[in-house]
Amino acid sequence: MLALWRSTIGKKAVMAVTGLAMLLFLIAHMLGNLKIFFGREEFDEYAHWLRTVGTPVLHNAWFLWISRALLVVCVVLHIVSAYQLSRRDLSARPKGYAHRLRPTASYATNTMRFGGIILALFIIYHLLDLTALVANPNGVEGAVYDNVVADFQHWYIALAYIVAMLALCLHIAHGFWSAARTLGAVSSATRARVYKAVAGTLALIISVGFLATPIGVMSGLVD
Ligand code: HEM
Repeated sequence: MLALWRSTIGKKAVMAVTGLAMLLFLIAHMLGNLKIFFGREEFDEYAHWLRTVGTPVLHNAWFLWISRALLVVCVVLHIVSAYQLSRRDLSARPKGYAHRLRPTASYATNTMRFGGIILALFIIYHLLDLTALVANPNGVEGAVYDNVVADFQHWYIALAYIVAMLALCLHIAHGFWSAARTLGAVSSATRARVYKAVAGTLALIISVGFLATPIGVMSGLVD
C-alpha cells in the first residue's frame, strides 16, 4: 500500500479517485442549491434535513459529520498528491542546459495548479461565509436562504463566486479527463473523444448549475 502511494501512478490514482468522490459531492451540492428557486421555506427545510439525514439509524448530524470527514480526507489527499507530483515533475526536468527541453509547464498543468489554488482559497472563504457564517453579511444560523441572498446582493461577493465557478469549470473539464486516463478508461481514440466530451459537458452543467444561484439573486429572481 505504502509502495503504491510512493509511486507516481499511485499518487495519480489517489488524485483520480478523490477527485471523482468530490465530483459526486459537487453534483449533489449543485442540485441541492437549485432548491433556492422554490423559495425560502423549501430551501431552509432542505438545509435542516441535511442535518438530520440518516436518523434514527444514525444519531442527529452524524451523517453530516461523516460526510465532512470524508470530504476533508479527499481534499487533503488530493492536494498532497498534486503537490508531490508537481515537485517530482520539477525535479525530473533537465537542468543546466541553456535551452531546457520543457522550460515551462503546459497550459493544462498551469490551469490545474492555479485553478486548484483558487478553488482551495474559495473553499476556505466559502466555509467562513456560509458554514461558520463569520464572513456572511447576514450570518444567521438556520437562515440559509437569507444568508445566500445577502451574499449575492453584494457585487464583489457575487464576482468572487463567479470567478471560482469558472475555475471550477476548467478544473473539472481537465480533471475528469485526466482521471479517466489514469484509471485506464481511455483505450482508443474514439473513447478519448467520448471522455473529453463527457468531461466538458459535466464541467459545464455543474458550473452553470452553481452560477444559477448568484445570477438568480442578482437578477431579482431570488430575493
Ligand atoms: C454559487 C455556488 C455555491 C453556493 C451558492 C453554495 C452554497 C452553500 C451553502 C448555502 C452552504 C451551507 C449549507 C448549510 O449550512 O446547510 C454550503 C456549504 C458547503 N459548500 Fe457550497 N455553495 C456553492 C459552491 C460550492 C463549491 C463550488 C464547493 C466546492 C468546491 C462548495 C463546497 C461546500 C462545502 C464543503 C460546504 C460545507 C458543507 C458542510 O460541511 O456543512 N460549495 N454551500
